[in-house]
Amino acid sequence: MAEPIRVVVTGAAGQIAYSLLYMIARGEVFGKDQPLILHLLDIPPMVGVLEGVVMELSDCALPLLRKVVPTTDPLVGFKDVSAAFLVGAMPRKEGMERKDLLSANVKIFKVQGEALDKVAKKDVKVLVVGNPANTNALVCANYAPSIPRENFSAMTRLDQNRASSQIANKLGVPITHVSNIIIWGNHSSTQYPDASQGKVLINNEWKSVADALGDNAYLEGQFIDTVQKRGAAVIAARKMSSAMSAAKAACDHMHDWWNGTAPGKFVSMGVFSDGSYNSPKDVVFSFPVEIKNKQWKIVENLSVSSFGQTKLDLTAKELQEEKNEALSVLDSN
Ligand SMILES: NC(=O)c1ccc[n+]([C@@H]2O[C@H](COP(=O)([O-])OP(=O)(O)OC[C@H]3O[C@@H](n4cnc5c(N)ncnc54)[C@H](O)[C@@H]3O)[C@@H](O)[C@H]2O)c1
Repeated sequence: MAEPIRVVVTGAAGQIAYSLLYMIARGEVFGKDQPLILHLLDIPPMVGVLEGVVMELSDCALPLLRKVVPTTDPLVGFKDVSAAFLVGAMPRKEGMERKDLLSANVKIFKVQGEALDKVAKKDVKVLVVGNPANTNALVCANYAPSIPRENFSAMTRLDQNRASSQIANKLGVPITHVSNIIIWGNHSSTQYPDASQGKVLINNEWKSVADALGDNAYLEGQFIDTVQKRGAAVIAARKMSSAMSAAKAACDHMHDWWNGTAPGKFVSMGVFSDGSYNSPKDVVFSFPVEIKNKQWKIVENLSVSSFGQTKLDLTAKELQEEKNEALSVLDSN
């Protein structure tokens, strides 16, 4: 069997981590032959809860899990890790301004970027889940200059999974028969869920989702609206934010980054923009990507309608504003 790799989950005492840790430790991300040492990072008030999580991981009796390292010290949490799931973040509290939320998170992700820079493996793959995920990833990468910035990403896979699932339900096909649905831009309500490149397997043949559905009004209206507002709908129903589905999406994202995408298929990831599709350079923007040898590549030359371009521009504008706000917080500290 392979040597164990170290994987960190931050926000390890929180609700996403409660599902995520189990999925990772079962081998669903790095493979059934890859032993793991799990690092669990949270903040001092959560130490008691963290102890409970450690007990439960032990009680799961998982064959791949060689050791668990609970800690509140980022320099211990990120030491020698090959993969990092940055889930922990400051949640939005009632009455909190967007700017205050951004400001609190910028500080957290600066500290974590610096710690990754000092002690993580230089080829560490970093997935930011904690919101505002795209801008947190940008800040984190900026404070870890010794790690290539291609190794930092933000999660829009939950949005992609939600979008694919809507299409599969609408067409009455299994979820595995839908692919290439794209999430563009920010993980926020300005994201653009786009089914125009989507493919669906019907009668053993891959067809375009748009042709199979024949309902452009739905794809440009209710479909986008449902995906954009799905997080709020889950909160309204559960009184807590998406956790099981967010954990599954984090596993899907890291799994595909680690293992690659199948030929002709692409997935969406928030990555540093090179200006593709008229997006602003150097913001973390969700694009369709193909992955080979653990390297992602933006899928180029897809046709974007004028309707789509308007949506892309809107989410790009929000990301540029978030970036400017984050930089002003950092400048004033
Ligand atoms: N990108 C996405 O698609 C997506 C989806 C769902 C949720 N989220 C975000 O994921 C984050 C976590 O969600 P949750 O439901 O697990 O929240 P939660 O409140 O249950 O857990 C968050 C945990 O993070 C910890 N934490 C806070 N600051 C920390 C720090 N500096 N270092 C380490 N740990 C820290 C908290 O103590 C807590 O245990 C939130 O920001 C949420 O908005 C993102």
